[in-house]
Amino acid sequence: MKHFTSIHDVTDLNQMLKEAFEIKKDQYQFENLGKHKTMCLLFFNSSLRTRISTQKAAENLGMKTIILNINEDGWKIETEFGVVMDGDKAEHIKEAAGVIGRYSDIIGIRSFAGLKNRELDYSEHVLGQFIQYAGTPIVSMEAATGHPLQSFADVITIEEYKKKEHPKVVLTWAPHPKALPQAVPNSFAEWAVAAGYEVVITHPEGYELDEKFTCGAKIEYNQNKAFEGADFIYAKNWSNYKNYGQILNMDLNWTVSADKMKLTNQAKFMHCLPVRRNMIVTDEVIDSPDSIVIDEAENRIYSAQTIIKRILENLK
Ligand code: CP
Repeated sequence: MKHFTSIHDVTDLNQMLKEAFEIKKDQYQFENLGKHKTMCLLFFNSSLRTRISTQKAAENLGMKTIILNINEDGWKIETEFGVVMDGDKAEHIKEAAGVIGRYSDIIGIRSFAGLKNRELDYSEHVLGQFIQYAGTPIVSMEAATGHPLQSFADVITIEEYKKKEHPKVVLTWAPHPKALPQAVPNSFAEWAVAAGYEVVITHPEGYELDEKFTCGAKIEYNQNKAFEGADFIYAKNWSNYKNYGQILNMDLNWTVSADKMKLTNQAKFMHCLPVRRNMIVTDEVIDSPDSIVIDEAENRIYSAQTIIKRILENLK
């Protein structure tokens, strides 16, 4: 594997899952693989899980890690080309990527959608510019349109808990006070379909995601109907894709509640976290024994470690 930016960098998901479970059994078994190698983790946006799990994963493989909160620890970065840089952005992404590439063997990048210009966000211009100018393998730690490290961890978690070969997995929209990107649901839909699950996506009418990501999933606008017989409920808010970045619905009837969970096949509850309690999901559901959100977060380590290991093996 050279770069890891989406499911399209994976040719053998089943084999990759096997590798993740091997790593989970003994996370230090490849501790010399990354000796004298450095992974630089660049954050244009906040993080708890991605930052800690990816750092831990790289260090479990013997790598050194450097963490930079871009725009806070370093110079503010200009990402547009051909502009007169007379504002507060002192460094261009072209030089920044080139320089960081010389200091690193792998670069992880978190850069969320701006939610103002759909074409720009969906072109993944920040990730693309790092791939073009860093000359170093790039790992997406959540970009504008996808969060593949999260989705791989989600699939690892479903594989651990599933009781049937092709479980019914429901991705449900839920209300949130702030406009959030479509990255997590986009990726989750792609990975869940690739894993062979029966994938149902439920959301208010008008909240359709880009079909490029939801291809192979069924769309069901009636949330109760979608929940019937579900083995896994994956809750997430996203802002509107068509009326790009807007919040058109805050209906708390979409919150995942204990009554709704009763419609399922005693489904496990999943969320990538951080989660707004009693907006996305009630306390009763997230605190119940069927909530597996902490296991899901733990699996972020093995997701990242599997990916970094594959990239390191390709460097040698
Ligand atoms: N799920 C996830 O990516 O969490 P953070 O935003 O805290 O990294």
